[in-house]
Amino acid sequence: MEQIFKKVAKRYRVTNHILSGGLDIVWRKRLVKSISKKPKMAILDLACGGGELTRELSKLKPEKLIGADISKEMLNNARNIDADFLQLYGNELLFPDNSFDLITIAFGVRNFEARQKSLKECFRVLRQDGEIAILEFSLPKNRFLRTIYKFHLKHFVPIIGRICSGSSAPYRYLGCSIIHFSIDNLKSELSELGFKIDKQKSLFPYICTIVTAKKCGIR
Ligand SMILES: C[S@@+](CC[C@H](N)C(=O)[O-])C[C@H]1O[C@@H](n2cnc3c(N)ncnc32)[C@H](O)[C@@H]1O
Repeated sequence: MEQIFKKVAKRYRVTNHILSGGLDIVWRKRLVKSISKKPKMAILDLACGGGELTRELSKLKPEKLIGADISKEMLNNARNIDADFLQLYGNELLFPDNSFDLITIAFGVRNFEARQKSLKECFRVLRQDGEIAILEFSLPKNRFLRTIYKFHLKHFVPIIGRICSGSSAPYRYLGCSIIHFSIDNLKSELSELGFKIDKQKSLFPYICTIVTAKKCGIR
């Protein structure tokens, strides 16, 4: 996984904006809008990449804001953001239990190799009543739109990716990972860990979804 993001890190932001027509910026803002805010928050932005969402979160003026990612190259793009950045794996969060009020993951959870373990770690480091807010690609419910979107992912995204970043392989992976990812499975995994699903919202043009869940039980 690190290798994939190493390849695309340099042009990641621009490629993303081109592929989404700039909507990725709006989607991250929607994620921040959907979270429960409180004063003096401690926030972890996991799989933060170049810190696009971390920057949005910093506008909430939290007491503590940490961006974490496995890829040094992606983290190198995180500049001029009022946050601390760490290189670490989602499945080994080096924080004490009950450290954060909020954990955000934007376009990252789909790529986690040890997703269940990473979500378990999120549960551990969240405070009681803490929230996990996930933004992830999803397939449109409408069959016609889904077929068109799958075609776009398989055939156009790798070409656009190659033009923008010089390599099509990471973008072939991107398409495959979206097609095989299920928001319903993610929700089940969260529930199994003791999270209580709070909100689910599909974002226009219905190719990504926000899921928020609260830590309610003790495991
Ligand atoms: C598509 S990027 C998303 C970056 C950013 N959150 C955004 O909104 O653009 C996915 C990120 O997840 C990171 N990642 C993948 N697996 C990870 C893991 N197990 N732990 C932490 N970060 C991971 C990658 O390095 C990459 O930076």
